[in-house]
Amino acid sequence: MSDYRMHILICGGTGCKASESNEIKDKLNYFISEFDLEDEVQVVFTGCFGFCEKGPIVKVLPDNTFYTEVKPSDAEDIVKEHIIKGRPLKRLLYKNPKTIIQLLQQIISTSTNNKYGLHSVIVDLSILKILKNTLDAMVIRHLVNV
Ligand code: FES
Repeated sequence: MSDYRMHILICGGTGCKASESNEIKDKLNYFISEFDLEDEVQVVFTGCFGFCEKGPIVKVLPDNTFYTEVKPSDAEDIVKEHIIKGRPLKRLLYKNPKTIIQLLQQIISTSTNNKYGLHSVIVDLSILKILKNTLDAMVIRHLVNV
């Protein structure tokens, strides 16, 4: 792997293959060839990333960019913008559906409107902290395993 400047990893798991990851790989290879990058960039299939509901997944190394819900029509922009110009495509980056701040706002809003008041907020914040630590551990485990 080390002779290449970059690698584009495409999920070859069942879910992503059912969502056109073969076509994405073909199109990426097509544009890599078009721009004469075959000696610099390698496109490879991987196993399942564990993010099947957000597939097809494409990961670019060495910068560890993690794209979700990629379509074959995105292949040209991945090569032109990311690989050639070094500008990852914001529209494909993984977005956490709810940030911790949004969860906090929701908890405070619901807790202050119920009969348990402040005690409920404190309990909810404890639960939120446990949730955050669990999510952090899951994300770290996922990144280590990918
Ligand atoms: S099949 Fe692609 S992430 Fe699981």
